[in-house]
Amino acid sequence: MPDDGWLAVCGRDEIPRLGARVVRPDGGEDIALFRSGDDHVFAVVDRCPHRGGPLSQGIVHGRSVTCPLHGWDIGLEDGQAAAPDVGCTRTLQVRELDGRIYLRRDELLAAAAPLARAGCA
Ligand code: FES
Repeated sequence: MPDDGWLAVCGRDEIPRLGARVVRPDGGEDIALFRSGDDHVFAVVDRCPHRGGPLSQGIVHGRSVTCPLHGWDIGLEDGQAAAPDVGCTRTLQVRELDGRIYLRRDELLAAAAPLARAGCA
């Protein structure tokens, strides 16, 4: 894939099924790449919206991950905490080509910025 704003970060096979792999492109924010049970790949900032726990070390179920620190469930598609908890972590678009996973450079740059609202970007 030509450099059209997307950056290759790892191979799909480097992400364990029902698990995660952390990448830190260009020394930026830790990004957790998750592989769900139905084999979709999701990218979220590796920081729980509750108290910053490492979501990459949580338990993946369906298209959610349970934070290892206090058990909040975070949706991998939208980064939203499941009720009754409130908060979100930033999600990033994912592209796959020939078994490689790509993330958008502009979203990687924005990943470290705090979310300005309760919703997710
Ligand atoms: S830090 Fe994730 S549930 Fe508390």
